[in-house]
Amino acid sequence: EAALLDAVEEIRELKKKHNAVVLSHFYMPAELQVKHEDGGIADFVGDSLGLSVAAKTVEADYIIFCGVKFMAETAKILNPAKQVLLPSFDAGCSLAESITGEDVRLLKKLWPGVPVVAYINTYAETKAEADICCTSRNAMDIARSLGGDKLIFLPDLYMGRNLQTKIKAETGKELILWEGKCEVHEQFTPQRINGLKLMYPEAQVLVHWEVPDDTVTDALKGAGGIVGSTSDIIRFVGESESKQFILGSECDLGATLRGMYPNKEFIVPCIKCPHMKQITIPRTLDALRAIGSEKEKLFEITLEEEISKRALIPIERMLAFS
Ligand code: 13P
Ligand code: SF4
Repeated sequence: EAALLDAVEEIRELKKKHNAVVLSHFYMPAELQVKHEDGGIADFVGDSLGLSVAAKTVEADYIIFCGVKFMAETAKILNPAKQVLLPSFDAGCSLAESITGEDVRLLKKLWPGVPVVAYINTYAETKAEADICCTSRNAMDIARSLGGDKLIFLPDLYMGRNLQTKIKAETGKELILWEGKCEVHEQFTPQRINGLKLMYPEAQVLVHWEVPDDTVTDALKGAGGIVGSTSDIIRFVGESESKQFILGSECDLGATLRGMYPNKEFIVPCIKCPHMKQITIPRTLDALRAIGSEKEKLFEITLEEEISKRALIPIERMLAFS
């Protein structure tokens, strides 16, 4: 405990010394989500869209990214003059790793002229081939806004199917999907959620867009709930009269929700994203300690300039849309 508090203190000092800010995702362990002004280390805590918007306007010299690699890359693309450090390069993502730029080029050959929407959970070389990016917060509106009767949505199969259900009913538009899956959200099967609904029949169900489509269909039956992005889920809880919720999303979002709404109860099957959990206080401290030394490049996000410039276009389109 004392070691953790000492490390937090040292991180706070090094941030000041090196003019660094810490951006932290809602799936980080609680100690990485405490705001700097409250004695913690985070200057901004958000979902993937919020973090992108925040990264773009950072004025400090260093961005320490407490999230996964595709998020840190997005920050670098949006604010290339800044040094972006990721405390662990093992912080991958099963969705981002499911597809390459070459795969997208192949899809475009198979479906010429069909707009390509790339989920933000992709690496820069994949984004570079897309027309527009989206996050779970704006995917529906972006998919609706595109012309034509088809669109390529990649790489999340389940999120694509969840979008497809709504879009097809509204516009008849057909989505061409990839086979990527989030290794966390795919575990929220109908059995898992339905078992909890039997045990807690009054609870509302909160599920992320990345859970399987048959789970979403079942989740919303009964006491109600929401399928949405991380911030949609947070907002929904704040506005709901209900006192009890079943969460179908990453375990540490449960801790975030408990901190935000101490009078509400959250039933959370604890499935942690192994990639997000690579980021810890000691590793964040290592990254900050490395600044100015040989070791700094072990943490540094670097991208080929040409890829970075091309990937910026679909990201900027998404931000303009939002
Ligand atoms: P959000 O866009 O909701 O932050 O999602 C990020 C993520 O990794 C979901 O699994
Ligand atoms: Fe990727 Fe899923 Fe982890 Fe998010 S929770 S980083 S989508 S593996």
